[in-house]
Amino acid sequence: MSETKKNNGAGCAGTTGGTAAIVPCSQRHTAAVRDICFRTGFAGKTLEGIVDNRRLFVDLDTCCFFNKELANLMVAESCGQTMGYIFIAPQSERLRMPRIKYFFSRTLREIPALAKFTKRDAVFYYRYIASALRGEFSFPTFYREFPSTLHINVAPEFQSRGTGTLLMQAAEKHLRSYGSAGVHFQTTSLNKKALRFYHARGYRQLYSRRTRFYEKWCRDNVRNIVMGKKFR
Ligand SMILES: CC(C)(COP(=O)(O)OP(=O)(O)OC[C@H]1O[C@@H](n2cnc3c(N)ncnc32)[C@H](O)[C@@H]1OP(=O)(O)O)[C@@H](O)C(=O)NCCC(=O)NCCS
Repeated sequence: MSETKKNNGAGCAGTTGGTAAIVPCSQRHTAAVRDICFRTGFAGKTLEGIVDNRRLFVDLDTCCFFNKELANLMVAESCGQTMGYIFIAPQSERLRMPRIKYFFSRTLREIPALAKFTKRDAVFYYRYIASALRGEFSFPTFYREFPSTLHINVAPEFQSRGTGTLLMQAAEKHLRSYGSAGVHFQTTSLNKKALRFYHARGYRQLYSRRTRFYEKWCRDNVRNIVMGKKFR
């Protein structure tokens, strides 16, 4: 699976424009994918200054990314630079148990290092767990009508150049050829640019619920939102 599209101008994207290729993620992209995850993982913004334990956050967030039996991970690259990625799981229901198991085992592995947790880490993970226990990240199942899921992130320096559009087109093509009836995924009301991006591509809001998780860092009344799109 590989698609290409011209960005503005010629040469390398990110310098003077050029071609972006959408290719399956391989070992050489892993470090960049993890870096982009950290720089976009806080409602579309960087976690710099929010958490110090970068490795734990990225491990948890990307835990199913590299499991080829459950999902495809595609990246946009140009001139050896990884610009963004899209995680695509045709059967999102199959992610549930592996994800829960990984969360437990990865968290347990962190216990010996708890003494090294900074105040920022403690606040972040305490708030996360408290929100999870209040059910703020839970939502009704959409497996039947929207069996697939995806997750997209483009590095800030490569946004608004068509990279996300290319990734989304490749993901939808993949899911349609798989025969998926539809796709759903979670975002937040803080991801304003992403919400505009999804609406412009035919996605609609399926569900939303308030979360207090972000209250420490922002005054907005934040909602977790499930977006979806049917393919047939
Ligand atoms: C949301 C996100 C994935 C979109 O990716 P992107 O690469 O910025 O998206 P694109 O450039 O394809 O499209 C964005 C806008 O840029 C503009 N654009 C597209 N191609 C362009 C080009 N060649 N030159 C200039 N502008 C262009 C379009 O107007 C588009 O607007 P539209 O959404 O109204 O169509 C990206 O901004 C992102 O990763 N954000 C932070 C992380 C995040 O919130 N992720 C979602 C988690 S749920």
